[in-house]
Amino acid sequence: MNKSIAVLLIIVCSALSARSQNKPADTSYTLPDVLVSQSGKKTASVKEWEKIRRPEILKLFEDNVQGKTPGKKIPLKFAITSVNASALNGTATRKQVRAYFSADEKYYMDILLYLPNNAGKPVPVFLGLNFGGNQSIHADTGILISRRWFRYANAPAYIDHYATEASRGVQSYDWEVEKILAAGYGLATIYYGDLQPDSAASVNAGIAPLFYDTGQTAPADDQWGAIGVWAWGLSRALDYLETEKTVDAKKVAVIGHSRLGKTALWAGAQDKRFAIVISNNSGEGGAAVTRRKYGETIEVMNKAFPHWFSGNFKKYNNREEELPVDFHELIALIAPRPVYIASASEDQWADPAGEYLSGYYATPVYNLYGVKGLTSVTPPGINTPVGEGNIGYHMRQGEHAMRLYDWQQYIRFADRFFRK
Ligand code: GCU
Repeated sequence: MNKSIAVLLIIVCSALSARSQNKPADTSYTLPDVLVSQSGKKTASVKEWEKIRRPEILKLFEDNVQGKTPGKKIPLKFAITSVNASALNGTATRKQVRAYFSADEKYYMDILLYLPNNAGKPVPVFLGLNFGGNQSIHADTGILISRRWFRYANAPAYIDHYATEASRGVQSYDWEVEKILAAGYGLATIYYGDLQPDSAASVNAGIAPLFYDTGQTAPADDQWGAIGVWAWGLSRALDYLETEKTVDAKKVAVIGHSRLGKTALWAGAQDKRFAIVISNNSGEGGAAVTRRKYGETIEVMNKAFPHWFSGNFKKYNNREEELPVDFHELIALIAPRPVYIASASEDQWADPAGEYLSGYYATPVYNLYGVKGLTSVTPPGINTPVGEGNIGYHMRQGEHAMRLYDWQQYIRFADRFFRK
């Protein structure tokens, strides 16, 4: 080959590979100190944290990131749509409940609940939203097929963005139902599209209009986006679980993968009834420290998914330093409750090290309560779970997903707190 052509090829190839790789993380950043309030005062006690710094951080997230959740209380009505006491070969009870948010029954979500049979006492529960409809989490033919709109259009399971019979169990690899039940836990799940379709064009197709003032046609810049709406739905599911005698509602672990991991963290930050919070590969806008600018950034996320966060969050596109919080403070809002952050080795888009560091930098708040968090600034290696205290972390070998390995760690972690 002619020498100049070879040189040109090398230049083109290296430019292409640089584009496909992440830029190195920015290491020059300074994170807001989780304990230092905006007036410059250092938080020295649990009392000061709970009275001053925690409310301040929560408000900063509401005003600048996820947006405010409306305070208006909606009267809820729960209707049991089906119960099968011998589901999954007799090992479980499957209950389906429709939670209505309006008297005209126009607004509702469908909760699918599996409970282990023969538990003998109320059980702890993992609660999480799902992407594919309740029927996607298990092939059990008794599960109602969601008639809602889906982002998916991959036939035969989803045709023209609607689910078919073929969608049954298509995401069972993310939901280890039998393993969860065998460990003595219940599982509650809801299709996130019941609350708001995951599309920038469909902000008014979910429950948001229930909260509009007269004449309002879209959430204001400081009001919630879809992540706030989905998180609200998780709290309403917990309202239901509190009425369910077979469930120990003081032992509910809220869990979510990816955008639904961002959602689980926000639900857990706002609603202290969630006893454990689990973030699976939540990345940007979830557990990852945003000032590292590694993998996805605020701007990239806000452009691709403008409906997820508040209008105000767009102000920080490419201006991470100006954001008055960073995401270790989202983790700190959960303290002292146990929180588990999980990454995956091939999921560099979600910045595994940044996800770890948010747990590490939230640790001083856990320490205020006299409990341990993450003690080393260096993330652990692959498949090496860490955290003897109230913050757990692992980086699973593999892709962006929620897998058996992840569930094994979550169950082990939850056992430590729920089986005392
Ligand atoms: C995209 C998005 C992430 C998100 C993920 C998911 O990759 O950029 O922010 O977490 O989708 O929800 O699967």
